[in-house]
Amino acid sequence: MYSFSEKVVLITGASRGIGAALAKAMAAEGANLCLVARDADSLRNIAYDVRRHYANDVMPRACDIRDAHRVEQLIKDCVQRFGRLDMIINNAAVLGLMAPIHEYSPEQWNSTIATNLHGAFYVSHYALRHMKQQNPAGGRIVFVSSSVGRTLRAGWGAYAVSKYAVEALMQLIALEGEQTGVIACSINPGGAATAMRRLAYPNEDPSTLPTPEQVAHGFLNILRLPDKALNGRGFNVRDYLGGPS
Ligand SMILES: NC(=O)c1ccc[n+]([C@@H]2O[C@H](COP(=O)([O-])OP(=O)(O)OC[C@H]3O[C@@H](n4cnc5c(N)ncnc54)[C@H](OP(=O)(O)O)[C@@H]3O)[C@@H](O)[C@H]2O)c1
Repeated sequence: MYSFSEKVVLITGASRGIGAALAKAMAAEGANLCLVARDADSLRNIAYDVRRHYANDVMPRACDIRDAHRVEQLIKDCVQRFGRLDMIINNAAVLGLMAPIHEYSPEQWNSTIATNLHGAFYVSHYALRHMKQQNPAGGRIVFVSSSVGRTLRAGWGAYAVSKYAVEALMQLIALEGEQTGVIACSINPGGAATAMRRLAYPNEDPSTLPTPEQVAHGFLNILRLPDKALNGRGFNVRDYLGGPS
């Protein structure tokens, strides 16, 4: 079984929702964390909480993942601070415009693709360059997917396309693992009571949904699997919500 103890994990979109819950759950298992999002204040608060409850090293870093140069620097700083990088969780995303394709403007399209696909590519690309040098220790690149990244639904626009593309990016990284020593997988959280979910389903009662903490528990159950069982696979959190935390 994979252990998080002393591992260095970089989580994007860690300022709230699933990313923030993942940060706390991984810290509880002994991981050291680099927490990334644009909202510096929220990141600082989460880093403070994590340090107070667990003795982990936490580096909060405000960074817009749409900016390739800033992402390159982020990975350099993370490696310099911790000496290595064991896992990336590509979790940051925006919902963007929920509308049929013919209603999209190019700007609306680009803005969602820039975060959900290009941002995940930049983070994975610069992390891979480092993880490849760590071979044979290698590393793990995890993509947070969505149900619409596996079965399209009308009206989900650039978000759905970005999640399909992220699944393809994951598959490529997994196929190239023999050269890099890096494995990749994707995880679909399913519905979770977060800000993004409220945007997508404004009339839904959030108390009927799993909390981000419950979803994070499912993520960890998946990520405890050994590398071979993860590589190239797409998981659903709902299949892993039970079991030990
Ligand atoms: N909640 C659900 O029901 C559900 C279902 C399926 C899939 N998902 C997926 O789960 C992941 C987490 O979603 P969530 O529900 O927790 O969403 P959320 O509460 O809206 O959080 C999104 C996170 O992404 C960060 N982010 C957005 N744009 C960014 C950028 N340009 N640079 C850096 N960080 C950025 C946000 O931080 P800042 O605003 O501070 O930058 C925030 O921390 C996403 O990949 C989402 O697609 C969620």
